[in-house]
Amino acid sequence: MDKEISISYKEFESIDELNKSQQLLLTEASKACLKAYAPYSGFKVGAAVRCSNGSIFTGNNQENAAYPSGLCAERIAVFAAMSANNTTIEQLAITIKSEKGNTDEPVAPCGACRQVLAEYEQKQSKKIEIIFSSESGKTIIVDGVDSLLPFVFNNKFLQ
Ligand code: THU
Repeated sequence: MDKEISISYKEFESIDELNKSQQLLLTEASKACLKAYAPYSGFKVGAAVRCSNGSIFTGNNQENAAYPSGLCAERIAVFAAMSANNTTIEQLAITIKSEKGNTDEPVAPCGACRQVLAEYEQKQSKKIEIIFSSESGKTIIVDGVDSLLPFVFNNKFLQ
């Protein structure tokens, strides 16, 4: 039997079209992006997380000569938030700056980061809004990681 999964998302040509709290979170992500350590890829990523208590945590990608030892901006921001205050994450904003200057396309979190987000969504029983943008300002918003990660693997399979 053929089946289909459909996802919905919102797309904006400029961050000016977002609401103020989304804009602010993207601004925090942009600031963090500038401090990324990405000498190998030249691809800087910044992320900012807003928690339900209003606190904001940021992260940026940290690379390493032993490539797999580095970590993505999203997981650094999310782990910082969760390790500091074991609370609910409401929103995640992501932005990038590429030395190759290639991108008008919003950059979505990688698969490993989606998996991490899925875990916390399940833990908190609340979706995390994910706002991802491009250098030009074109932005996509999804209301939860299920829009990015169908057929998720989670702890239900371990029981
Ligand atoms: N990167 C992130 O920080 N987040 C993503 O979602 C995609 C990739 C980083 C990892 C690496 O430092 C560089 O971007 C190129 O892959």
